[in-house]
Amino acid sequence: MNIADDIKQKLDIVDVISQYIKLTKSGRNYKAACPFHSEKTASFFVFPEKQSWHCFGACGTGGDIFTFIMKKEGLDFGQVLRLMAEKAHVNLVYKTEQSSQEDHQKQDRLFKLNEVAAEYFHFLLLHDAEAKAARQYADKRGLSSKTVDNFQLGFALNKWEALSEYVAKSGYQIDEMLAVGLVVARETGGSYDRFRNRLIFPIKDIKGRVVGFGGRALDDSLPKYLNSPQTALFDKGSIIYGIDRAQGAIRQKDCVVITEGYMDTITAHQYGFENTVASMGTALTDKQISALRKLSRNIIVALDADEAGLEATTRSINTIDEQIPKDHWMPWSESKTYDELVKYEVQVVEIRDGKDPDEIIRNSPEKWAGLLRESQPIIDFTLKKEIDNINSDSSKDKSAVVSKFLPILSRIDDSIRRAHYVQKLARLLNLDERFVNDALFDLRSREKKYTTAKGSKVLKNYADLAASSRHIEEYCLALLLQYADLKDAGMKLSTNYFEHSENKDILIKWQDCPDANSIMANLDPVIHEYFAYLMSFNKQFPPSLSQNKEEREYALSDCINRLLERYVRNLEIKKKLILSEEKEKGDMEGQLAKLIEHGINESQQLHDIFKNRGSLFSRTKGV
Ligand code: UTP
Ligand code: MN
Repeated sequence: MNIADDIKQKLDIVDVISQYIKLTKSGRNYKAACPFHSEKTASFFVFPEKQSWHCFGACGTGGDIFTFIMKKEGLDFGQVLRLMAEKAHVNLVYKTEQSSQEDHQKQDRLFKLNEVAAEYFHFLLLHDAEAKAARQYADKRGLSSKTVDNFQLGFALNKWEALSEYVAKSGYQIDEMLAVGLVVARETGGSYDRFRNRLIFPIKDIKGRVVGFGGRALDDSLPKYLNSPQTALFDKGSIIYGIDRAQGAIRQKDCVVITEGYMDTITAHQYGFENTVASMGTALTDKQISALRKLSRNIIVALDADEAGLEATTRSINTIDEQIPKDHWMPWSESKTYDELVKYEVQVVEIRDGKDPDEIIRNSPEKWAGLLRESQPIIDFTLKKEIDNINSDSSKDKSAVVSKFLPILSRIDDSIRRAHYVQKLARLLNLDERFVNDALFDLRSREKKYTTAKGSKVLKNYADLAASSRHIEEYCLALLLQYADLKDAGMKLSTNYFEHSENKDILIKWQDCPDANSIMANLDPVIHEYFAYLMSFNKQFPPSLSQNKEEREYALSDCINRLLERYVRNLEIKKKLILSEEKEKGDMEGQLAKLIEHGINESQQLHDIFKNRGSLFSRTKGV
């Protein structure tokens, strides 16, 4: 995230624009007469979810919070950035290339510090006299010495400053130890080691860098596990324990097994289930799932049957978009995640009798392999659990199950999959399939009305598009900055296709004078660091780009095509949103006609894009 994003996140576009013009609510959006041209019907819209605005009238422009103020106040991007930073209480740090290099060095030192600590803990576990009990504990838990090595398990002495003194000798400062959470600051000044008398599990990222630690008590004292706090290196929402050692096997077996705990993962690896990772006792997050999906689309989660209440499932489904506080791991306790688990056909292994994978595997690896083979899609799993819990003679119970599951089924896009579950639900409840089908049909038509009215389906598409947009813009700029021979094509590129103001600003300056030094000189110092990042982007280019002019021309025109496509699609999505809202209110006359007129226009544009793409495609295939 760069500084412009940071500011945008902290401000609300509706608040900001309201200080200039009077906005009236229109469905989930706001409208007004366009402040940039004179008009009678309001065709200026603000979209709070997207933090953007657009005028569908004569000026046909749009953008984000920055472009609005730039236009309104006649300021340049740097000036607006400053103004908004102040409003948002964002500290503008003037980063030169040198200082960003320094940041990298600082970060490298923190990783190194963690590594030194991990080695120290590991050494103690293997060799220190005071680690005898810890070694016995590891033995008792069935950990082989190879496993202890592989996972670099360690031991923290029962002393207040053993680690701090050790790493201080290697030249690390207290500030650095605090920054990675290895020590805790005392209120009265000074600090002490966070981990004491614990078995240590270094937590590594996918590149194998130590980002944090977990420490287990050797007895029943609490907390059972103490973990690193959230730090610059340790982001709890995205860390997956064991990913560094599991990634190869995940790719190879094209399947990943997600368990809950450190011990489950370690034991799984010891017994050859090397495609296993742990979520570390918290609800699975979108970030974790998407990171894993990059390695394999086949995801199995191992659930403790006692915890995996459907209560949580339905509760979360009914409160879409609300974060539900959770104190134990329920992979669906975040509603969006449950939807994703369904969508991605995540499989579930049910674990009974309060045993965890660690125990099951140690007792019988074959049994575990069998459980994995028998894993079932999450819907089947929840359905079965729910049906096990009802009185099969009670029509009230049956009806309750149907109404719980219909919303889930309704969200399955694939009609064959949907039909399959209708059949299954009916069969399990001993009902005529037609009833379930009719009920689903009713629900879907009600939901359809609802989603088009609220535009939430449409919004989702938008979010997908927006996620990739930054990357395309960056790539496009990086190409232009790197290859002078792309100048002609770049000059023709419309700045309207850029959504992110900082990128737009750089493009405008490039078109003004396509020379990196002069762009740098004209750019606000706040985005120098970002600019330097774009300049160094070429390291990520495939070598063929430098060697082959046609190749880079192709890359650029592909970027431009995507940008154009996104631009047109965004417009269409915004328009659909407005249309559906206006339709709800029944006031559609002039506005609507105007929008439809636009719509036809843009569909033609989309058509052209695809035509264009087709010809680009055949070119690369040598057709
Ligand atoms: P479990 O309680 O299932 O622990 O918590 P475990 O991994 O099976 O450990 P053993 O077998 O009792 O030694 C699952 C995970 O939740 C996190 C840890 O990541 C743990 O592995 N957790 C649990 C904590 O972070 N703190 C705690 O106090 C407990
Ligand atoms: Mn356990």
